[in-house]
Amino acid sequence: MNPAASVSERLHTMNPRTTRFELLVVASADGFIGRRSGHNPSSWASPEEQHHFLASVDRADWSFMGRRTDEEAPREDRRRVIFSTSASGLDWCSPTRLRVDPRSTGIEAMIEAIGTRHPARNCLVLGGTRVHDWFLARALIDRVVLTIEPVRFGSGMPIVSNIGGEPDAVMRRLGFRRTDSRKLNAGGTRLETFEPAGSQRIDPDRSY
Ligand SMILES: NC(=O)c1ccc[n+]([C@@H]2O[C@H](COP(=O)([O-])OP(=O)(O)OC[C@H]3O[C@@H](n4cnc5c(N)ncnc54)[C@H](OP(=O)(O)O)[C@@H]3O)[C@@H](O)[C@H]2O)c1
Repeated sequence: MNPAASVSERLHTMNPRTTRFELLVVASADGFIGRRSGHNPSSWASPEEQHHFLASVDRADWSFMGRRTDEEAPREDRRRVIFSTSASGLDWCSPTRLRVDPRSTGIEAMIEAIGTRHPARNCLVLGGTRVHDWFLARALIDRVVLTIEPVRFGSGMPIVSNIGGEPDAVMRRLGFRRTDSRKLNAGGTRLETFEPAGSQRIDPDRSY
């Protein structure tokens, strides 16, 4: 195996195309996923986005998220991988909820662990920002499904830590191309899909 291959390439070589990661995000028109931590999309996103979000989560095998996102919407019945610096090794807090510290546990180990409980074919990456950063830095995202709501927050939690601006421009700068765009409602909510344009931007100097 080529040692210079990206994690994504290595994963797919080990286990060709069996695990796919979709980044599912709702953002304001000026590119924020909330005004502040705790500003849950259920309080500001459209009913159409919420319907789409819940249907996507229902279909997914596993959802990856940060500790706060998990705590904000606890669901024992959902299969979750929860990032936390306080996790030690592969820390199952219930049969369907695995806590890991991604600074010391790699994606291959996470997939192997969750695969023993339920196949990890279609996985969602739900955020927040640092969880997006972690997956993007490793070029693991196969598809981005982005809902853009016609609201502007002015400031808040960005989609990724080191690139700001309107969501479409952020996606382009991350190395994704838009493959679909459609209206979700008459109010101006848009559902957009992006795929890697061929060269995803990886920031080798950033530590996660
Ligand atoms: N608009 C959207 O699409 C969207 C998506 C997801 C979440 N949200 C919103 O965003 C807010 C939550 O975001 P948040 O940024 O405050 O919190 P978060 O990302 O849900 O959780 C942050 C915590 O996760 C752990 N973590 C995340 N990345 C890590 C990494 N790379 N390495 C180690 N640990 C890591 C750390 O836990 P420890 O502190 O335990 O170490 C960190 O404090 C919520 O209000 C939620 O509703 C919005």
